[in-house]
Amino acid sequence: MFFLNKAYSGYIDLNYAPCPGDLVVEFFLEKGRGVSFSEAAQAIASESSIGTWTEISTMKPEIAERLSPKIFSLNSSSGIVKIAYPLDLFEKGNMPQLLSSIAGNIFGMKEVKNLRLEDIDFPSEYIRSFKGPKFGIQGIRKILNVPHRPLLGTIIKPKLGLGPEEHAGVAFDAWLGGCDLVKDDENLTSMAFNNFEKRVKATLAMRNKAERLSGERKAYMANITAPYKEMLKRAKFLKKHGCEYAMVDVVSVGWSALQELRNEELGLILHGHRAGHAAFTRNPKHGISMLVIAKLCRLIGLDQLHIGAIFGKMEGNRFEVKKIGEEIERKIVHKNFGQHVLAENWLHIKPMFAVCSGGLHPAKVPLLLKALGNDIVIQMGGGIHGHPQGTVKGAIAARQAIEASLQGISLQEFAKMHSELRLALEKWQ
Ligand code: 3PG
Ligand code: 3PG
Ligand code: MG
Repeated sequence: MFFLNKAYSGYIDLNYAPCPGDLVVEFFLEKGRGVSFSEAAQAIASESSIGTWTEISTMKPEIAERLSPKIFSLNSSSGIVKIAYPLDLFEKGNMPQLLSSIAGNIFGMKEVKNLRLEDIDFPSEYIRSFKGPKFGIQGIRKILNVPHRPLLGTIIKPKLGLGPEEHAGVAFDAWLGGCDLVKDDENLTSMAFNNFEKRVKATLAMRNKAERLSGERKAYMANITAPYKEMLKRAKFLKKHGCEYAMVDVVSVGWSALQELRNEELGLILHGHRAGHAAFTRNPKHGISMLVIAKLCRLIGLDQLHIGAIFGKMEGNRFEVKKIGEEIERKIVHKNFGQHVLAENWLHIKPMFAVCSGGLHPAKVPLLLKALGNDIVIQMGGGIHGHPQGTVKGAIAARQAIEASLQGISLQEFAKMHSELRLALEKWQ
């Protein structure tokens, strides 16, 4: 039998109203064996802030008074626990430190069977210590000269295997057909068969050609994911060669690297792929919500982030994706406790573009726009390169699907006059 120590007590104050300087966290908690729900909640409050498993002689009352977090809401039937942490517990502008506190030891404590970090409401003073996106939605729209419609992107497929010239050739076809953006896949970096620098040079040459032929702006999102120094070297290489974007796998490279990359002020638009997020976001009872991951990315300053495709190949629910989309694009977010959303004022932090990717094809475009609006990047890999007539026609079909949706015409109707879309619908619908 496991007994809770007295050290984990004194943290509950249900009359406490969080003040503007508090960092407020919502957790879902399922208590472990041998403790009550409120004891488990206090173990979390304590271990994520100043406490440890036993009483200690070095804990001055003054420290406890000044730095103890307050559990101000506790509901054992819903499992929701809300804790207000004094801001002094956190180092401003240090994302890894935040996570070592409120997303640290607590996930493994014996008092806890399951624990999920659902949302964080950052106080303004904390928000001010981060840069946020350099460009954000409006900055990107300006660079690409696309003021209103959703952006269309593709991922070069196969994920791995093509050489630099072949890669550039597929990119050219996609741009020519109507894609605004072309990106590397999440696991394509600098391979024995596809060197980063060679690929970037070849692909940018094709970008220039596609711009000349189409009269549209085109951009390449090259994946720089690597150990930090190498990543920085690759980012600088992109800048030097006239690339607007750098793409990075946010979970794989880690928070420290992401912050540093943003702080370099390279003038590159940062595109975040979230490969690996589901290791901690997928379990509805344990881990960290995707909402939190997205907020951290916005605070740090990614300009675009994959948030799920709703109707795509990955697990994910519609309300979840919509809620994340709103969180990363609004200036003021109102609380919605039914959706585990705390309020937030994003102050100077620009809105980040939501990217929907993974298993999408033209037939899914109307639903996507209806659910998320026009401020999204729609990406299709298989949904473009899998078109019966190849990549160029695949990209044309995808642009037609966007065009039809914007005009409020059904895809079926639009396809009568547009054979590329018709073939795509025949294959996938
Ligand atoms: C992919 O790489 O196939 C996807 O973009 C992954 O899907 P997600 O963006 O929903 O994580
Ligand atoms: C991505 O990295 O977003 C993808 O690989 C999406 O590819 P898909 O459209 O073929 O699923
Ligand atoms: Mg991919």
